[in-house]
Amino acid sequence: MVTKYIYGNPVETYAVVEEVPLGETPAHVFLETGNSLTFTHSLGSEDIVYGLGETMRGINKRGHRYISFNYDDPYHKDEMPSMYGSHNFIVVDGETAFGAFFDTPAKVVFDVDSKKNGQLTVTCTSPDLRLYLVEGEGPYDVVRQFLAIIGRSFLPPLWAFGYGQSRWGYKTARDIDRVARKHRDAGIPLDYICMDIDYMDQYRDFTVNCRRFPNFPDFVARHRKEGLHLVPIVDAGIKIEPGDPVFEEGVKEGHFCKNREGREFQAEVWPGLTHFPDFLQKKTRRWFGEQYRFYTDQGIEGFWNDMNEPAIFSTEYRERDAEPDAVRGDPDQPERHIADFKDFFHQLDDGRRMRNYEVHNLYGAMMTRASGQGLDQLLDKRYLLFSRSSYIGAHRYGGMWTGDNASTWKMLRQNVYHMPSLNMCGFLFSGADTGGFGGDTNRELLLRWLAVSAFTPLMRNHASIQTRHQECYRFRKPEDFKTLVSLRYRLLPYLYSEFMKAALRQDMFILPLAFGYPGDRRARRIEDQLLVGESIMIAPVLEPGVRGRSVYLPEPMTQVRYGAGGFTCTEVEAGEQTIEVPQNEVVFYIRQGKLVPVGKAAANTADLALTEVELLGGGTTYEQYIDDGYTKQCGLERCVTRRKGEDALGE
Ligand code: GLC
Repeated sequence: MVTKYIYGNPVETYAVVEEVPLGETPAHVFLETGNSLTFTHSLGSEDIVYGLGETMRGINKRGHRYISFNYDDPYHKDEMPSMYGSHNFIVVDGETAFGAFFDTPAKVVFDVDSKKNGQLTVTCTSPDLRLYLVEGEGPYDVVRQFLAIIGRSFLPPLWAFGYGQSRWGYKTARDIDRVARKHRDAGIPLDYICMDIDYMDQYRDFTVNCRRFPNFPDFVARHRKEGLHLVPIVDAGIKIEPGDPVFEEGVKEGHFCKNREGREFQAEVWPGLTHFPDFLQKKTRRWFGEQYRFYTDQGIEGFWNDMNEPAIFSTEYRERDAEPDAVRGDPDQPERHIADFKDFFHQLDDGRRMRNYEVHNLYGAMMTRASGQGLDQLLDKRYLLFSRSSYIGAHRYGGMWTGDNASTWKMLRQNVYHMPSLNMCGFLFSGADTGGFGGDTNRELLLRWLAVSAFTPLMRNHASIQTRHQECYRFRKPEDFKTLVSLRYRLLPYLYSEFMKAALRQDMFILPLAFGYPGDRRARRIEDQLLVGESIMIAPVLEPGVRGRSVYLPEPMTQVRYGAGGFTCTEVEAGEQTIEVPQNEVVFYIRQGKLVPVGKAAANTADLALTEVELLGGGTTYEQYIDDGYTKQCGLERCVTRRKGEDALGE
């Protein structure tokens, strides 16, 4: 059961889309008067706290403090309180299970028993908010009730589930041609190449540098013929550039955020000085969404939205005369940034004028909403969109990636922890920069990372311009990389089907082990094994220099080993087992009584037949979701029943 409580005069966030009954003041909420609201709850010693989407540390958030205040900081230390997105939903799995969603775009501090005294304290810095309390039979039930009120996940096209290659620093059409060719030569499947800021003219959105990318539509079409999509980046800030039609129209029609004097606010980002579109206004969202026509007219169907926390390098006031009240101490954020966000204003559709600081966490989400709604109008098929900054609600318009991680084993592990937490908050289509963004990756780390990303909806290798090149073909024995990427394609009939079913049922796609085995005390504490869809359990290798790992099996399963020779299945008992996993192999498990449809190897998704499958595992039937990969008319009626024994790969 979900109940809504309204405090003050909250800003419209568009997070919840279903009608939820209004309650009286809830019993276990303690409210402080004044300018903030505090929610407290005493945790039992064995209670687990789930949720909080894109926050650091493990799946159980207990023992630490987290802050919802979207922030661009590439040093993802455990202690880092804020990431790029804010997902204010927590689930307490204790004597009773409940969830709480603090629907406010202002800063929220979650102290999840950081002092080890059993206290969960959530402090909302704005007194205006909607609180949703969810009571359920267990944590998974609570999550499903929450997913039911926030609306269905974004549905990407099939090609978005293919492998993507990206790098900040592909500067010319020839660079991109070479990446495509090298993948083909090495036999490594590929569905898309991302185009980072280097494709633009002076880092201006909605431009292509025609000297470095001559005949752009032909270039796009040529790659499409080879089964490859190009996915340009779009940044939040619009360069101040007289003569640029987007800049000029934006000023003329009043689409940009204002400064204290009522003029367009200026901040420096990649293109130099920019204005920030006021995505909180409906008219600006419509205007910005329409700008994507520039790309869709040239054959583009996929995008990544960036720098939308918004990220700011410097501002017009920062050095000169930041307001004393704005820079005054905030122990959790560098002061200069707080000053920036207090320095610019949004004009809300309800008539209020508010500092970005007060509605901060909505900015990226409203950019996603603008782009998603625009693309839905512009294209007659499904599009790919993923954003760096987000808030619950944006999951209906696009996916997200977890920003600037690093090429470290710790970040690989964090990728594993992030996935179920993001799913609990609605973000089914997500993934990390495979191989790591900052710092130099190495062969072993990239191979192990591919073995994890093979199961995450977004599977994109991306790195910073300052790092070594990390395309798979750059390493010794590229055939090993080919094996791991080809596993992704062989699993796509299953992964696509499970993702679509989860999205259409408003359920999770990647789950903690505990959600699948609620009565199993040991499974409840395991964070480095995950459930992917209804049939698969993964147990990835997350450490360097090891030959394998130990795995806990809550029930007898089918162990599947995939390597250059294909799939080998073995029935294994419940309990603990130690497995060897060479770097060029992946071991995963199929749950008791379940099946996994696997297809043939493919060079890209255009080359893939979702219908030609073989069924692995000990179950008898599997419901496979199938469509053409891009129709907007998706529904569970598209599922077909596959029966073990009637599957014949290649018939
Ligand atoms: C930001 C993005 C990163 C991108 C870079 C250049 O740091 O997070 O993915 O490569 O900007 O555009």
